Amino acid sequence: MRRIVLGSGKGGVGRSTLTANLGLAIAKMGKTTVVLDASLTTPNLGAMFKLEKVPYTLNDVLAGKIPLSDVIYRGPSGLKIIPAGVTLDQVKKALPNRLPEVLKELPIKTEFLLIDAPGGLRRETVAALRAGQEVLLITLPEIAAASDMMKTRLIADFFGLKPIGVVINRVLQEEFELTSLEIGHLLNLPVLAEVPEDVNIKKAFNLGKIAVDASPKSPASKAIKALAKKLVEMRTRKSTA
Ligand SMILES: Nc1ncnc2c1ncn2[C@@H]1O[C@H](COP(=O)(O)OP(=O)(O)OP(=O)(O)O)[C@@H](O)[C@H]1O
Ligand SMILES: [Mg+2]
Repeated sequence: MRRIVLGSGKGGVGRSTLTANLGLAIAKMGKTTVVLDASLTTPNLGAMFKLEKVPYTLNDVLAGKIPLSDVIYRGPSGLKIIPAGVTLDQVKKALPNRLPEVLKELPIKTEFLLIDAPGGLRRETVAALRAGQEVLLITLPEIAAASDMMKTRLIADFFGLKPIGVVINRVLQEEFELTSLEIGHLLNLPVLAEVPEDVNIKKAFNLGKIAVDASPKSPASKAIKALAKKLVEMRTRKSTA
């Protein structure tokens, strides 16, 4: 199983949107895929799949109340979703440090686990990074987001995660933006995708849908599907090496 953390540094860069869309794109390629919301205090991955009212969440598992299998929900195209709890009570009782341990309960046939890791340096951020093997870094094409992303990369290095590359989100192709070349140099990592600013992302979300499903031919969906292909092929090369 590949355990990929989607980390950003700064919040609000589109990490949850990317986790949902990328997870769905990989699932559509026939891979057994799980997306997990590790943003325990500000979760929103569940809501993207209309799971905000489910009886149990990852928080209950981290509180030691129930097994992980009770909070693996079915999404479109066979994608599995592990949402986090939205109520204050659920937030208080979860022990983020238990995340790496509880993930050992994931079904053996899982091929991809995508972890939506919160920004900053919170306990839950560290727990999310400790639970992963690889990290995909997401930024906007601007200096503030890119420099915060560098800090996340350093923390990921500290925990021994393999940085696989950078995704630049909400690209407008304007002159004032940082370029892909600049961001790649800054982190000394390949830029795996540039996802354009695309109104279809929000349109799908407001309809309770995911863009790669609702508007597969939109510019952002195309970029995310190409990224999914790269990630899946990366694995093929590794396993046949
Ligand atoms: N490529 C895109 N084009 C247009 N809008 C986008 C794109 N990606 C994300 N968004 C929008 O940006 C906003 C923030 O996205 P999202 O909630 O996924 O960010 P986040 O990094 O998970 O934030 P948080 O740190 O609060 O969890 C949302 O309104 C989302 O619809
Ligand atoms: Mg989010």
